[in-house]
Amino acid sequence: MENKIRIAVLCSGGGTNFQAIVNAAEAGLIPDGQIVLTIADSEKAYVLERAKRNGIETAVFDKKRYPRAEREEKILALLQEKEIGLVVLAGFMTVLSAAFVNAFEGRIINIHPALLPSFGGVGMYGLHVHEAVLARGVKVTGATVHYVTEECDGGPIIAQKAVEVRAGDTPEILQKRVMREAEWVIFPEAVQTVCKMLIKK
Ligand code: GAR
Repeated sequence: MENKIRIAVLCSGGGTNFQAIVNAAEAGLIPDGQIVLTIADSEKAYVLERAKRNGIETAVFDKKRYPRAEREEKILALLQEKEIGLVVLAGFMTVLSAAFVNAFEGRIINIHPALLPSFGGVGMYGLHVHEAVLARGVKVTGATVHYVTEECDGGPIIAQKAVEVRAGDTPEILQKRVMREAEWVIFPEAVQTVCKMLIKK
C-alpha cells in the first residue's frame, strides 16, 4: 500500500488524458502509482473540475500571473514538498526548462498526439499537430508516450500506437480518433509501466 509512486499530473486544458489515467487507477490498472496532485497553468483549465470531482488535490500557477521561471520554481517546490516521484504531462502546453527537466530526470513523461519523431517539436501541440498531419497527407498517425528531456519531444519513447487517417478527416475529427484509439489507451498503461520500473530502482 505504502509502496506506490506518488504521481502529479500537469495539464493546461480539458484533461481527457488525466481522466483516462484516473479511470485506470480506479479500475486497479495502476497498482504501483497513486495520483496525488493535479497542477494546471490556467485557472480556467477544465481539468481542475475533473480533479475536484475525483477528490484529487489541485494547484494552479497561472501563465498570466507568473513568468515562466517563477512558475517553474513554484511548481518544483510543490512537487518536492508533496514527495512526487513521477510527473505526468497530460496536455501541458508549456515547454519545460532544462533546469526543471534535470531536477526530475527520468521521472517526467509526456503524451504527444502523433508518431514521434514525426510531427513533434516546438509549436507542435494540440490541434496544430493534426493540422500538420493532414496537410502532409500521411495515412497513418497515432500517439507517443515518451520521457521528457531537454530536447522538445525528443526523449526516449515508452509507448506508441498507430491510428488510421481517413478521407474527409478534419483536425478535430482526427484529434478525437487519436485520443480514443491511442492516447487514452497507451497513456495509463505507460504510467503503470514507469511506476513499476521506478519502484524497482
Ligand atoms: C492531447 O491530445 C495531448 O496529446 C496533446 O494535447 C491534448 C490534450 O488533451 N498534447 C500535446 O500536444 C503536447 N505537445 P486533454 O487535455 O483532453 O488530455
